[in-house]
Amino acid sequence: MTLACHVPAMDRTTTFPISLSGFDIEGLIEADAPRLIQLYQGCSDYIVLERGHPPDAAVALEEFRSFPPGRTEADKFVFGLKSATGELVGMLACDRNYPQARSWWIALLLMDPALRGQSVAKTLCAGFFSWLKTQGADRVELAVFAENKAGLRFWEGQGFMLVRTAGPVSIGTKQHSLQVLARAL
Ligand SMILES: CC(C)(COP(=O)(O)OP(=O)(O)OC[C@H]1O[C@@H](n2cnc3c(N)ncnc32)[C@H](O)[C@@H]1OP(=O)(O)O)[C@@H](O)C(=O)NCCC(=O)NCCS
Repeated sequence: MTLACHVPAMDRTTTFPISLSGFDIEGLIEADAPRLIQLYQGCSDYIVLERGHPPDAAVALEEFRSFPPGRTEADKFVFGLKSATGELVGMLACDRNYPQARSWWIALLLMDPALRGQSVAKTLCAGFFSWLKTQGADRVELAVFAENKAGLRFWEGQGFMLVRTAGPVSIGTKQHSLQVLARAL
């Protein structure tokens, strides 16, 4: 099988352009995990929904170390949204060629609450999807916790449609049903 594999494994030089003045996308590696903690703390609402307790240092590190079944860090990509002051105010974690070649899996999209509702996530996704096409991808998939109604509405607004339901999965003290969504690029 030939996998869509235009870029090597993640490093700090892997980024994509976005049409957001004052922001940049930065490729993140595991050593950047401590820089994400402030963002996670600002997004406690989501972390509590996800795992039943507020974020700790392990949560940011886990982002770089959790892979879909049968996958490794070779196909893990974590992008940070950096403000003009250098602060990480958003992040997008994804896995290349999952669940199949030319499909990318979005593990998490997280925006600082102060930035939400200003089309920043929408613009970030548009830039990401354009870049994915240059990488030979033709599909994006993700799972939303059934409890995350706002997240579901966001992804539906970006053209994602329900593929199947999955779960239950246990994360921290929580048990989740999942809604798996997908869209063509
Ligand atoms: C989901 C999330 C990334 C959206 O970020 P955002 O920057 O506020 O989204 P945008 O402002 O770009 O919104 C884009 C569209 O989605 C809609 N949308 C965003 N959040 C919404 C919400 N809570 N309820 C309903 N619609 C919403 C907006 O109205 C907008 O619609 P429009 O295109 O018609 O104007 C952000 O709320 C977040 O970080 N949530 C916590 C983490 C999460 O749930 N991630 C998704 C699961 S992986």
